[in-house]
Amino acid sequence: MPPDPAHLDQRFVWHPFTQMQDWLRTEPIVLDRGRGSVLHDTRGRTYLDANASIWTNLHGHNHPLLNRALREQLTKVAHVSALGFANPPASRLAAELVRQSRFRGEGPRLGKVFFSDDGSTALEAAIKLAHDYTRRTRGPRPKPRFLSLGGGYHGDTLGAVSVGYSSLFHGGYRDLVFKSDTVMAPYCYRCPYNRARPERADARTYRSCGWECLDQVDRKLAAAQRSGRPYSAFVVEPRIQGAAGMIPQPDGWLKETCARVRDHGALIIADEVMTGFGRTGAGSSLFACGVEGIRPDFLCLAKGLTGGYLPMAATLTTQAVFDAFLGDYSEFKTFFHGHSFTGNPLGAATALASLGLLTEPGNRRHRQRLERALGQELESLWTLPAVGDVRRVGLVTGVELVRDWPTRTPFPLEAQAGIRVCQAMARRGVLTRPIGNVVVLMPPYSTTLRQLKTMVTTLHDAIGEVLGG
Ligand SMILES: Cc1ncc(COP(=O)(O)O)c(C=O)c1O
Repeated sequence: MPPDPAHLDQRFVWHPFTQMQDWLRTEPIVLDRGRGSVLHDTRGRTYLDANASIWTNLHGHNHPLLNRALREQLTKVAHVSALGFANPPASRLAAELVRQSRFRGEGPRLGKVFFSDDGSTALEAAIKLAHDYTRRTRGPRPKPRFLSLGGGYHGDTLGAVSVGYSSLFHGGYRDLVFKSDTVMAPYCYRCPYNRARPERADARTYRSCGWECLDQVDRKLAAAQRSGRPYSAFVVEPRIQGAAGMIPQPDGWLKETCARVRDHGALIIADEVMTGFGRTGAGSSLFACGVEGIRPDFLCLAKGLTGGYLPMAATLTTQAVFDAFLGDYSEFKTFFHGHSFTGNPLGAATALASLGLLTEPGNRRHRQRLERALGQELESLWTLPAVGDVRRVGLVTGVELVRDWPTRTPFPLEAQAGIRVCQAMARRGVLTRPIGNVVVLMPPYSTTLRQLKTMVTTLHDAIGEVLGG
């Protein structure tokens, strides 16, 4: 008998973002097979993947077309270095990403693609490029600075942590990160400027405010200008902040904010690691920026780039940024940055197949149907007293659990309300992961309408069981 994988895991594996003391208490779910939106474990149990394998999976597991693209590339070569060599799938993928990024909107055209491995590394490349570009074009002084949104999460490498600092996650290495500024995110449900009493509806639809969040942006930018140290770049997750707790932006906020940032003279770094590839709406653009008509200076992509198959990321930028790094070798203007697996052909071939699927009209129509159905199904959650806010953008949903909805009183984190609800969902055969008190539903595009209904009713029943119906 081969050793039991659950046993080996508990003996040898250290899991990310996991209190291992809790992990070691119960036998883990060991997933070993999947097809479409269904996953199977080694004990013969079946689950629906309602979290798209931590927001990566687009077309479902074990997709025949993605499998074929990967297999075909395997018969040629699994990896060649991008340090010194080109490879056909990476070249084609770069051209296709640039094509897809040329949506109608305000801002520069993206034209160059820097490949890396993960969301964090996509951000890391953008941060370094923006920093150095500003230094090169504005002169060595003043030192470039970054502005990002409060609560934003951009990855776990130190540059990404610097623009997405959270005292809970990163307090232990505060001394290692560089200083950057944040401005309040438009979190309508918990906005101190929202004077509306809670209703049984998405807070964006009944908020009552004077757009004070935009005043805050104005103030930040003006203070930086006055100090003689303007920002070099603004880092933003367009349309909805993911790990901050699925916080969607009210209509118009992104456009207004980006216009102000541009007037200030700063670059825009759009972190579409979570929002990219149609996740926020099956409109004509694959990107949340495109939906809002904002063309950033940097577009950071990962997670869904390969349909969720392989770790691969891309940082798209403009010709202007690229040109600032050109020169005679002896000038040492080279972007001295890269990874061993940059431009990996297996990832690139799979990404091309995924983009092909995404742009099929049938695929878009199905996503539109899923979005409509998800909106309707979610209505049922308002009957539950522990539901404070239900917010959805495209196929991304956050359900905020509260102890008392008329006062928006949250559960203390120690109560593990989100974790307990997700455990109850897993017992009923639906897998997802909470962000504190927010339960996430992010179905892969392979999900059928019936599976979608099961995901929502399971969430409903799990909340009822754990927190009262
Ligand atoms: C918006 C955003 N940016 C960056 C990252 C980091 O990506 P990765 O985990 O692939 O490093 C994440 C991960 O959840 C994310 O949601």
